Amino acid sequence: RKTAPNADDILRQKGGAPLVSLTAYTTPMAQMMDGHCDFVLVGDSVGMVLHGLTSTLGVTMEMMILHGQAVARGLSRSMMVIDMPFGSYEETPAQAFRNAARLMAETGAGAVKLEGGVEMADTIRFLVRRGIPVMAHIGLTPQSVNTLGGYKVQGREDQAEAVLADARAVAEAGAFSVVLEKVPQTLADRITAEIAIPTIGIGASAGCDGQILVVDDMLGFFTAFKPKFVKRYANLGPLAEVAIAEYAAEVRARTFPAAEHVFADQAPQKAPKP
Ligand code: KIV
Ligand code: NA
Repeated sequence: RKTAPNADDILRQKGGAPLVSLTAYTTPMAQMMDGHCDFVLVGDSVGMVLHGLTSTLGVTMEMMILHGQAVARGLSRSMMVIDMPFGSYEETPAQAFRNAARLMAETGAGAVKLEGGVEMADTIRFLVRRGIPVMAHIGLTPQSVNTLGGYKVQGREDQAEAVLADARAVAEAGAFSVVLEKVPQTLADRITAEIAIPTIGIGASAGCDGQILVVDDMLGFFTAFKPKFVKRYANLGPLAEVAIAEYAAEVRARTFPAAEHVFADQAPQKAPKP
């Protein structure tokens, strides 16, 4: 991509070339994915991936804004979408609008993402009608881990109709796309075929209109656990630890810094111009 798409461009890619996306939380990561991804998500997974929280429930508006601003500095060719954190949108549509507008104004994000299906449809409609593009997120919604009883697959067997109803509700409410997390492949394919907005899969199906992964998972930086749906395209965390151990050993052996890393008393003479 040469220029960043907007929510309408993403919507119009329904059924076309698969949409590519990753999460990002910092400027250098955003720079690496700029142009490779159609959109980059500042996910509330930042709480677990970078802040050591055990769930996403403790993530605040302030954390999202700080990471959103960092990511925005690294993007010019990918769209930025930002997660609404737990507690910032569930009470009323007005509360959701106030916080979504703040996230967009303070970070420059082109859209917000929020978790929920049928129960969030009125809120999605309220935001979209007032100028805020919304990406929905259904199936496994990690902010509801305490009522879902864990990070389980959603929509198996007699649960399938409920997830399908969620998909229909968010599409009907005006969401420009929807993340399907940890739902059976056949259900993901059925939803993708039935609704008019792009489905973005994570633990869903290669038949979705796009895919997303948490960048620290796919690069092997986050190794506390590995969900089945994560593919590690690199294993950089263990590589980084080897480098850190080598540095520690060299400092203790006084072999770092070496001659090339230290400064002489006098500045080196510049060679005269011929
Ligand atoms: O916060 C996040 O990283 C997400 C993606 C996994 C969709 O919501
Ligand atoms: Na999220």
